[in-house]
Amino acid sequence: MLTKIQKIGEQSLAEAKELLLQGECVAFPTETVYGLGGDARSDEAVEKIYRVKGRPQDNPLIVHVHSEYDLHSLIYDDQPYVKRLREAFLPGPLTLVYRSRGKVSAKVSCGLDTLAVRIPEHPGAQRFLKYVDIPVAAPSANRSKHVSPVSAQHVYDDLNGKIPLILDGGPCSGGIESTVCDVTGSYPVVLRAGLITREMIEHAVGRCDAYVPKEGERVRSPGMKYKHYAPACETRLFSSAAVSEALAALNEAVRSGRRVRVLCEDCIAGAFPAEMVLNLGNDGIEMAENLYRLLREAEACADLLIAVEPHERGGIMTGVLNRLQKACAGE
Ligand code: TXA
Ligand code: MG
Repeated sequence: MLTKIQKIGEQSLAEAKELLLQGECVAFPTETVYGLGGDARSDEAVEKIYRVKGRPQDNPLIVHVHSEYDLHSLIYDDQPYVKRLREAFLPGPLTLVYRSRGKVSAKVSCGLDTLAVRIPEHPGAQRFLKYVDIPVAAPSANRSKHVSPVSAQHVYDDLNGKIPLILDGGPCSGGIESTVCDVTGSYPVVLRAGLITREMIEHAVGRCDAYVPKEGERVRSPGMKYKHYAPACETRLFSSAAVSEALAALNEAVRSGRRVRVLCEDCIAGAFPAEMVLNLGNDGIEMAENLYRLLREAEACADLLIAVEPHERGGIMTGVLNRLQKACAGE
């Protein structure tokens, strides 16, 4: 199959709509990462999403709709704080997990009685979702377990030949996937950290917990149990206090003829040879924006990536660190 990359316009949107209604997958930009969209109402389309990605069948998908879509036709929201959450943060990089009305394919949620819904704010995503005006199921548009795509080219590199169309909306400014927040209980619970932080949600509605799976419990966000975001090269992760150990590892690898890159925050970049540094930047927002692009740069030019954890904790760094640790974790 020929995979086209097209800027978002009347013609590409019409083509995207036709493809979706035929049960095909179309990649589209959001402010977080690119999504691999399919018609959420169709079992076959949803199955195709899993197949194209090579995604495990028990990891549910997020449904995407535009701002004016009749959200309540898809879900129940019985908790009073949820409206306030939506008003504070949507459209934006926040996915809410509701009780489902069962109006989309059961395969979207892998048989769970909940449905994750996202209203992205990216103008290209809004335009696409308004044009097609159906609920679009979409995971990140990468091969399963690989680094999430933050440009149309990244999608192409992973899925060339497997999907007919990539809508190109330029690089994603957010850089890490949306916050996933369960709103079925009496207070919100963050299942996956992201740019809308637990602290921001707590500030908006008074209480918000971060989900920590208890020993032996069935995980509430099934995606959490899988290896994720991993570049193709070998990775070694060092704590923020272990800069000299990281430098020693780098020197040893260089001596044995390996091609090495170092991924680290700006304030310690000076400790490493400049030509080997992939600089994450100075704060959470910059690091989120740069992380996936730099992981993909690393795998393109190195056989070993030495990553040093940034020192800041909490807020956006919770999500950034979570992605970095998963990218560098073993199977
Ligand atoms: O920013 C994003 O969220 C991107 C863009 C494309 O919107 N999408 C994305 O999708 O990251 P994906 O499939 O890579 O991650 C979806 C996450 C997984 O961790 C999954 O387990 C969780 O959302 N999820 C989906 N439905 C759920 C549900 N009903 N209950 C709990 N977790 C759910
Ligand atoms: Mg993903």
